[in-house]
Amino acid sequence: MSEEKKLTTAAGCPVVDNQNTLTAGPRGPVLLQDVWLLEKLAHFDREVIPERRMHAKGSGAYGSFTVTHDITRYTRAKLFSQIGKKTELFARFTTVAGERGAADAERDIRGFALKFYTEEGNWDMVGNNTPVFFLRDPLKFPDLNHAVKRDPRTNLRSATNNWDFWTSLPEALHQVTIVMSERGIPASYRHMHGFGSHTYSFINAQNERHWVKFHFKCQQGIRNLSDAEAEAIIGRDRESHQRDLFDAIERGDFPKWTLYVQVMPEKEAAQVPYNPFDLTKVWPHKDYPLIEVGEFELNRNPENFFAEVEQSAFNPAAVVPGIGFSPDKMLQARLFSYGDAQRYRLGVNHHQIPVNAPRCPVHSYHRDGAMRVDGNFGSRLGYEPNSYGQWQEQPDYREPPLSIEGAADHWNHREDEDYYSQPGALFRLMSPAQQQVLFDNTARAMGDAPEGIKRRHIANCGKADPAYGAGVAEALGIEA
Ligand code: HEM
Repeated sequence: MSEEKKLTTAAGCPVVDNQNTLTAGPRGPVLLQDVWLLEKLAHFDREVIPERRMHAKGSGAYGSFTVTHDITRYTRAKLFSQIGKKTELFARFTTVAGERGAADAERDIRGFALKFYTEEGNWDMVGNNTPVFFLRDPLKFPDLNHAVKRDPRTNLRSATNNWDFWTSLPEALHQVTIVMSERGIPASYRHMHGFGSHTYSFINAQNERHWVKFHFKCQQGIRNLSDAEAEAIIGRDRESHQRDLFDAIERGDFPKWTLYVQVMPEKEAAQVPYNPFDLTKVWPHKDYPLIEVGEFELNRNPENFFAEVEQSAFNPAAVVPGIGFSPDKMLQARLFSYGDAQRYRLGVNHHQIPVNAPRCPVHSYHRDGAMRVDGNFGSRLGYEPNSYGQWQEQPDYREPPLSIEGAADHWNHREDEDYYSQPGALFRLMSPAQQQVLFDNTARAMGDAPEGIKRRHIANCGKADPAYGAGVAEALGIEA
């Protein structure tokens, strides 16, 4: 028998018998010195780690990004430095509200997370398949989570909780309209677009800032499921998205997405008639057209789901020189929440897990912590400043100063705001048949929610477009 097939303990010692425990006599009891039984049970008892608080169910794959167009006038990020340049990446696509064992074909947003292993560190682009979000103030994010997840008493998903919350936040209507539209259940992860959603910034070689939004257009074409189709699929296959992505890559049918950016000069942010850092709004394409950048392909399945997909950790705080943040309040909160969640879920040294490890030299003087498995920087000294030039900061990468003004306060982000024009415009873009699908999906999703909540939604929709309100009212069988 070849050496690698022989069974050993975690300490590498031979296991003599993996069928029969060590007992005193054929009828037992078990002897405490059956160390293989103890090790096997003890390991098994610890196999489950916390699932992600959102986006618990997902699929991952490796691939590479290739630059096809020059955007060096906007960014000095080396990954975009040359046409033809390739960067390895890892992608994870997800549903949001369901737990780790949830069915894939649910009506929900899809997560669209990419980790680019660049020579200047990892850039994590942690987006969704929609360009906007339910909220624009991060204080409400835990509430959103509690409203869409299970009811504390019944442990059931609750249309009442879900819609009570959504309809009480008029800024959610744009995202709700997308999720209830025909795009609300993608046929698979290969058939949906991806968006960075937030406004980020690009910094170029002249140290000038532009605001930027990222769009990933799926080359397979958009395909969606109706509620009835999804129901039939879930009845026989809860893993339809995982199966589709895995099988496509195994058979060499590699899915691809084209990256485009919308770019706004820094100063224009103060001039456009909307808040360009508001995550519930898009930038009109006629004002900020899509600029093509490159494409990525997914071409390799992970060897081990737990090691590579479950233990992957994406963090919007991971940006490389030439890509920066923006004043978007939601983005600012995410810069804290992801690393914090990952320190709890995977541990303080989760950056060393191979799928997360940068593919460039890492020279950060964090030391120790649970599961430190590299050399821990050996004997290198652990303080700075020092007399030896160790741990030098890199001021060449300093971003231009960002002008900010205003008194500190809990500013009411609901004052003088327009929640309805963009959802209304989206509604009017739909054909009559697509509008009917939106009405019917909404009515089914609202299910047994109380009439008062349904009326609140009808009123919100009516403010976006009277026909939207009337259509939802009719589908719900409520006289407007
Ligand atoms: C996952 C928090 C908004 C996309 C997560 C996780 C947390 C979180 C704690 C789990 C992280 C982990 O355990 O690894 C938040 C907070 C938000 C917010 C506090 C707002 C204040 C958003 C938005 C998007 C988004 C706006 C998309 C534009 C994702 C994705 C994942 C995720 C794709 C899964 C990443 C993966 O595949 O591992 N979020 N989130 N989140 N979030 Fe958010």
